[in-house]
Amino acid sequence: MTVLVLGGAGYIGSHAVDQLIDKGYEGAVVDNLQTGHREAVHEKARFYQGDIRDKDFLRSVFEKERVTAVLHFAANSLVGESMETPLPYLNNNIHGTQIALEVMEEFGVKNIVFSSSAATYGEPKRVPITEEMPTKPESTYGDTKLIMEKMMKWCDIAYGIKYVSLRYFNVAGAKMDGSIGEDHEPETHLVPIILQVALGQREELSIFGNDYNTKDGTCVRDYIHVVDLIDAHILALEYLQNGGDSNIFNLGSSSGFSVMQMVRAARQVTGREIKTKVVERRAGDPSTLIASSDKARNILGWNPKYTDVSEIIATAWKWHQGYPNGYND
Ligand code: UFG
Repeated sequence: MTVLVLGGAGYIGSHAVDQLIDKGYEGAVVDNLQTGHREAVHEKARFYQGDIRDKDFLRSVFEKERVTAVLHFAANSLVGESMETPLPYLNNNIHGTQIALEVMEEFGVKNIVFSSSAATYGEPKRVPITEEMPTKPESTYGDTKLIMEKMMKWCDIAYGIKYVSLRYFNVAGAKMDGSIGEDHEPETHLVPIILQVALGQREELSIFGNDYNTKDGTCVRDYIHVVDLIDAHILALEYLQNGGDSNIFNLGSSSGFSVMQMVRAARQVTGREIKTKVVERRAGDPSTLIASSDKARNILGWNPKYTDVSEIIATAWKWHQGYPNGYND
């Protein structure tokens, strides 16, 4: 009775494996280690290095493991990169999901929890964003996530594969003890970059525009702690295993923080100066993204605990201080 975690060596996937094992699940991981880290995978999870697009490889994993459900995190996930090189994104994300669904169908596995994104909405007409609002992705990445959701919808209708798609807003933070965390190369996300400045690894934070229509002119985002995010995945897994129907949920904390507010919070948490300079806007950045997570709270019974961004930053800081060079330390 194994939960198979595709992309379980990545930032979010590794936290999922950790929490699954902690809750007494049997866990197995598939990861091609293109962006993931072998060291991030819990020692009690069985690890298979390989690519989900390699059908023979994926079949061999399903032959060894009695897979009851799949958690699918295996994807390329950078908005900017997806605009410059869309073809690898289409190939890895869409083709990879197709192979995963084909193998699930072949082995009669009926439950999948899927890592989707706020990027499926594009620039929202209003916030907070609810699941009924139109999806209009403005990046290849966002569109791949929407297409992957649709692939699962058709596989539900045809084969009865039930899915929960979780549309994440801005995920940050690390496991409380700082033993696993975020390690991307190159790093593009706000919280780790701010903390690299605090550590002296970068001179300053470039703030991408301060002329947005927001309280201080910098972009507003909804930050959610990775541990809370994974709690929602485990609730989604239980929901499916209890016969729940396919569904889509937003995951955010329902409050927005500007880039400048994040910098100020990080200064307080770290006690460091954290220099900033304002530069041009980054292409494709919506000004404000805030989730309504009422649906996840009502249907899944989700109750995020770390809604204070200082707490989120503090756990990320613990990880960055302990592993200033990430998993290379
Ligand atoms: N930012 C800066 N300077 C930086 C990095 C980021 O000012 O060096 C700003 C961005 O402009 C943005 C905010 O900080 O306003 C957050 O940026 P991130 O890159 O950390 O996150 P995004 O909001 O761009 O992306 C996140 C997820 C994506 C997801 C997207 C949905 O990381 O996977 O939300 O829009 F697709």
